[in-house]
Amino acid sequence: MGYIIGVVSQKGGVGKSTVARAIATTYAAADWNVKIGDLDINQSTSFTWLQRRLSRGIEPVVAVETFGTVGQALRIADAYDLMVLDGAPHATRAIAEIGQKSHLAVLPAGLSLDDLEPTVLLANTLVSEHGVPVERIVIALSRVGDSSRELEEA
Ligand SMILES: Nc1ncnc2c1ncn2[C@@H]1O[C@H](COP(=O)(O)OP(=O)(O)O)[C@@H](O)[C@H]1O
Ligand SMILES: [Mg+2]
Repeated sequence: MGYIIGVVSQKGGVGKSTVARAIATTYAAADWNVKIGDLDINQSTSFTWLQRRLSRGIEPVVAVETFGTVGQALRIADAYDLMVLDGAPHATRAIAEIGQKSHLAVLPAGLSLDDLEPTVLLANTLVSEHGVPVERIVIALSRVGDSSRELEEA
């Protein structure tokens, strides 16, 4: 069975797609067969990114496919060493499902309390309501800028 890494947040613009692509390209560069499942069908950020990379011949090649549901993405996950699920915002049910099915759930958040509080709440909800083991959840501070003090406080 392939690995599944889910990148989720209730918020848009926190860096889900950026983190998903960074994870995917890192593993692909190490010769893993990687696919990004882009679940944000309104933005399709990762899918558009693939088109740009293909037209410019950028390596490593990472497959990207857009899926309307988590279930559709998971049905083909076994064909890959790693499936990175790039989640959609405001998708409570899909986020819970991604959390349950992923070997690792990555929750990107900025340094402000506006970002951190809902992220911690989401992590707690995944654990207490959806049975996700806490060791399978990481919060990834993203878009951190260059203030080491702000970073430390976060
Ligand atoms: N580490 C970062 N530093 C600077 N800009 C970033 C960083 N991560 C993401 N961004 C920018 O923030 C915006 C939102 O990122 P994105 O990954 O699309 O978020 P999401 O998928 O959560 O909506 C994009 O313009 C992206 O380029
Ligand atoms: Mg996105």
